[in-house]
Amino acid sequence: MTKTICLLPGDGIGTEIVAQGKKALEAAANRTGQSLAFTSALIGGAAYDETGSPLPQETVDMCRAADAVFLGAVGGPKWDALSPDKRPEKGILGIRKELGLFANLRPALLLPELAGACLLRADTAKKGLDLIVVRELTGDIYFGQPRGIEVRDGQRTGFNTMVYSEEEIRRIAVVGFDTAMKRRKKLCSVDKSNVLETSRLWREIVNDVAKAYPEVEVEHMYVDNAAMQLVRDPSQFDVVLTGNIFGDILSDEAAAITGSLGMLPSASMGSQAPALFEPIHGSAPDIAGQDKANPLATILSAAMLMRLGLNMPEEAALIEAAVSAALASYRTADIMEPGKTLVGCEKMGDIVAGLIAG
Ligand code: IPM
Ligand code: MG
Repeated sequence: MTKTICLLPGDGIGTEIVAQGKKALEAAANRTGQSLAFTSALIGGAAYDETGSPLPQETVDMCRAADAVFLGAVGGPKWDALSPDKRPEKGILGIRKELGLFANLRPALLLPELAGACLLRADTAKKGLDLIVVRELTGDIYFGQPRGIEVRDGQRTGFNTMVYSEEEIRRIAVVGFDTAMKRRKKLCSVDKSNVLETSRLWREIVNDVAKAYPEVEVEHMYVDNAAMQLVRDPSQFDVVLTGNIFGDILSDEAAAITGSLGMLPSASMGSQAPALFEPIHGSAPDIAGQDKANPLATILSAAMLMRLGLNMPEEAALIEAAVSAALASYRTADIMEPGKTLVGCEKMGDIVAGLIAG
């Protein structure tokens, strides 16, 4: 049966990287005789320019009709002055909410090929880094009401609300523990329960969910300490379970220490299909349109799409193996090392697709 993937290239380097991800998907499907169909829709600044909304209803409908959604990136200086409800970021936040994608999986892996690009001291890097951030994605201060800017006591005052219900915490905790059971059975829940009520409830619910997973070793860590431990010794982490804003910040940190933001994929899942797959980096307007972007985070997101979105693990493994093989000889500028051949975005996409084709 043909599976349909809705492409949302978005802004900046989004178009270039999604094109490379699509090549990888097609090559993997061809190799094993699977049939894929693609649709494409507007999101972010590109959608705003065309329709006046960063998330047109037509885009939501097309995503819902697909088996999986494949997103590039949104945003850029061109749209910085827009009000929050018109900004490109609202497109991403909106589609996450519309599709109920409450669980964001962000694996951070230091590939042996990239050990030289790792930002950590060699003795720390040697211990390895293989963790996954399980980030709650549809709640927290990102979506809490009330929010706004209003005049209080004669001064403009900005306010947001950090809020989590028990049920929201429970369902992401279940994803965290299920993920740990498939990995090294270690879970670190990150919060700020020494200061925040939302975090106190978070910790209580996580401990309650933990009772159903006696095999999983559970630890709680304050977010400031977690940020520090991530650079001090990331090898201590397996699953990092956390809320929306802490997860946003810690996943960029985890990505950067592996060598480049350009390498890390992500999956955003709900209780039903379609799920959404995207690199964790942004739209990099400074290098957009110059064929310089690293497409590998997007290509690795294509692998996650096949494994988790379409239940095609064999095809996912083909893509991942091709990425490792490509890295042995070829690099984009962000991960360039002596002795390797420098290539642009499109060339890297062609090399990986060629390796997938075998
Ligand atoms: C991410 C991004 C988004 C977020 C932005 C673009 C809204 O930083 O996916 O990490 O904050 O979730
Ligand atoms: Mg982010």
